[in-house]
Amino acid sequence: MLRRTKIVATLGPATDSPDALAGIIAAGVDVTRLNFSHGSAEEHMERAKRVRDTAASQGRFVALLADLQGPKLRIARFANNKITLTPGQTFTLDAAMDKEAGTEQAVGIDYEDLINDVAPGDVLVLDDGRIEMEVTEVGEHSITSRVLIGGPLSNNKGLNKRGGGLSADALTEKDKQDIVTAARLGADYVAVSFVRTADDMHTARQLLREAGSEAGLVAKIERAELAHDTDALDAVISASDAVMVARGDLAVEIGDAELVAVQKHIISRARVLNRAVITATQMMESMITNPMPTRAEVSDVANAVMDYTDAVMLSAETAVGDYPQEAVEAMVRICIGAERHPSMHQSKHRIHQDMVQVDEAIALSAMYAANHLQGVSAIICLTESGATPRLMSRIKSSLPIFALSRNHTTQHRVVLYRGVQSVPFDSATVPNDQVNNMAVSKLKDQGIVQDGDLVILTKGDYANAQGGTNSMKIVRVGADIR
Ligand code: G6P
Ligand code: MG
Repeated sequence: MLRRTKIVATLGPATDSPDALAGIIAAGVDVTRLNFSHGSAEEHMERAKRVRDTAASQGRFVALLADLQGPKLRIARFANNKITLTPGQTFTLDAAMDKEAGTEQAVGIDYEDLINDVAPGDVLVLDDGRIEMEVTEVGEHSITSRVLIGGPLSNNKGLNKRGGGLSADALTEKDKQDIVTAARLGADYVAVSFVRTADDMHTARQLLREAGSEAGLVAKIERAELAHDTDALDAVISASDAVMVARGDLAVEIGDAELVAVQKHIISRARVLNRAVITATQMMESMITNPMPTRAEVSDVANAVMDYTDAVMLSAETAVGDYPQEAVEAMVRICIGAERHPSMHQSKHRIHQDMVQVDEAIALSAMYAANHLQGVSAIICLTESGATPRLMSRIKSSLPIFALSRNHTTQHRVVLYRGVQSVPFDSATVPNDQVNNMAVSKLKDQGIVQDGDLVILTKGDYANAQGGTNSMKIVRVGADIR
């Protein structure tokens, strides 16, 4: 059985050797993530090139996702690099103090506006939730708090406000430079961190296009404001090509109690709005140091698959872990297992909703036919931008969707979509009345379909016309297909 759920793996020192990279790609990685919170532009360029070379040598399509750091707020540094906080003690964040001279009582912050964004009673969460403190007093350039949960705290750790509401812009100066790097290294997707509004996505898209990139835009959903406001969430999703349930910072902002319900909500909104969705963070965390996942991690991945996410993501597990390849193999295994469940093959998606677009009507009709007509073995979809297979793959099905495109960006973009496989094909080089025949032959040559199989084919009246899909055909492999 072909795996439908896609795997995103973060690159890092653990995957820098040629063998390690070849290993995770052979094990099934579909998208590699370049984490712009770490590393130099040169390092990312190097990694991107290695991914392209390795994928090509394995005959695979592997997409590159450039993940921008965003306005992650951080404390400055301690004179002794590390302190220990005790519950009940007072601790001050001081924008005016020496950035290198933090003590047990106070540390610098790099974001002065924090003072305007917090009030007494707010809870600040540091180091991904390990430390909590309640604000008692806000001064001219400092915030004084009482420590609720103590423990060790070291240099440059992240800082969030429980409940959200920090006003830092989604795109920092560093992000704007990194967008240019992402364009230069040929990223297929660019992810924007701490998105607040659709405008954040429009700005990122404009900068990316100015830099000459056709990459798809991924909105990372990690602010409490979006988790609790469906209209705001829908606006951000609609302005993006895909979204990421960025559970790390999201859980810090909303607390862990609601996290799973919010994950399900984001996945469902993305699917309804015809966008792809990645579920991310700590999916196989224990595999950083163990060759086997815990039962809870198995359950977490399977749960996301059954929520019908397009992709599941590995972070530190592959970037710095001891078992990157085992982590990918475990994910592959769990995805395939969860996809076997009968509920994964029948769709009630949008059955009671109207449509406005012709290509959407064709895409959804094709999936309905595929799921209900006996003997169909594949869906073949001619596409310019990847839009038609994305529409199709919002529908649950057990049949593979083959996206046939001449466009290099599209060939890589579609690998993120659940159940979609990339096949290079240029319909403009084939006489019009031979396009169907050639498309089916292409899959037959690759051993994907056989004589006698039924396949469903979609395309438009004109070659290479984005948004032009207006016909669906059901044909038998081996017959003379016009
Ligand atoms: C290919 C076909 C066209 C079709 C288009 C759909 O280019 O040759 O006939 O209209 O795909 O592309 P889209 O980007 O909308 O999926
Ligand atoms: Mg984050």
